Amino acid sequence: MSQLLVKGGCRLTGEVTVQGAKNSVLPILAATLLTGSPVMLRGCPHLRDVDASIRILQGLGCRAVWEQDGLAVDTAGLEGCSISDSLMREMRSSAIFLGAILARCGRAELSYPGGCELGPRPIDLHLAGLRDLGAEIDDTGGHLRCRAVRLRGADLVLSLPSVGATENLMLAACGAEGITTISNAAREPEIIDLQAFLNACGGCVSGAGTSTVTIRGGRPLHGCTYTVMPDRIVAATYLCAAASAGGRIFLRGAREAHLATVTALLREAGCTVASDAAGIGCTCEGRLRAVRPVRTAPYPGFPTDAQAVLMAALLRSRGTTVFEENMFASRYRHVDELIRMGADIRVSGRTAVVSGTERLYGAPVRCTDLRGGAALCVAALAAEGESRITEISHIDRGYECLERDLAALGAEIVRAETDESEG
Ligand code: UD1
Repeated sequence: MSQLLVKGGCRLTGEVTVQGAKNSVLPILAATLLTGSPVMLRGCPHLRDVDASIRILQGLGCRAVWEQDGLAVDTAGLEGCSISDSLMREMRSSAIFLGAILARCGRAELSYPGGCELGPRPIDLHLAGLRDLGAEIDDTGGHLRCRAVRLRGADLVLSLPSVGATENLMLAACGAEGITTISNAAREPEIIDLQAFLNACGGCVSGAGTSTVTIRGGRPLHGCTYTVMPDRIVAATYLCAAASAGGRIFLRGAREAHLATVTALLREAGCTVASDAAGIGCTCEGRLRAVRPVRTAPYPGFPTDAQAVLMAALLRSRGTTVFEENMFASRYRHVDELIRMGADIRVSGRTAVVSGTERLYGAPVRCTDLRGGAALCVAALAAEGESRITEISHIDRGYECLERDLAALGAEIVRAETDESEG
């Protein structure tokens, strides 16, 4: 088992290049199924969730291998339409494969993704949209058995702007005859990236980034070479790391337009943030100030995925900051671990109140989920003494090599193997 050892107190200085976006590459990997042709994905991050997607593609009879240029996928050999229960459980966002398999094969069999560490993860909007496109879905007994002799374009309305449902329906609609519109679609940058990929493959998708996405379906898609967008949540994590530890960093490739709500709060807290076409620079000196209430919301609101890392950065701020988590039911599991490091945080329902303390202390702490784990690293950088962070497989789901990047910025952080079982 691996753990991260972090000695706090080093200022961060220097530059790192931001990895490709996990939340962009996962739907794009599902979308490769629609092409039945070779696709080369550049900038694809090496992540546990990407490995799980590769195993799903291979399990379906497709080729997916790392080459020098990136991840080479060829879905010509697709021979199955079902995903095993163990692979479904390995990656909670595996439901994204449903629309693509259905569009390509006319049927799909998956087990239900179920809940995850953030709380329940329903897919009712995905299923309702697929039914509106003409799919018959039997979702009893924890399994999803879907059939569609023919998918037909339809006007779909989402009751909330779900990222996964928007993506799943975009993929299914590519295989449907006629035009589909998705109203109240999610507006995340990753949706724009998926649209760009589909169009690079010969698709006809427009409107991504607005609340209405239109798909002209039924066109044959071909392969392409595509570069995945930079990961805005990884960028937010490193900005928060600099805010926490102090210092001056530059994140090559990061796009401030994707992170405006995060950088606005960091400026309010006292950081200097400046960006250009090459990336984002951030300078932080002295103690931060508390900021206005942070309310998570669908894009372009404050991202729920950046809630934990911003909270970690503000633990030593002057004053009190209120967080309101509106996206997931169980997204404060990192709080108890931060409290072990000396943080003053009170949670009540969806609200967490962070009162800044002068000092944090290194402690043995445990990752509870992906972004919560990254938040422990952010806090540990500002703590006195050493923190030992266990259960870091959560972090590896979304960060290619968190310790490499933070060490490149001057942090004292190493990965160590241990014989002890984690936990
Ligand atoms: C995606 C991101 C995740 C991020 C989240 C919100 C990926 C791989 N993951 O997850 O990192 O935290 O967006 O920005 O891109 N909901 C329903 N019914 C549905 C679908 C969703 O009720 O059918 C609810 C969810 O429970 C949640 C909210 O809608 O409360 C938002 O979920 P959604 O946007 O779908 O998130 P994901 O796509 O799962």
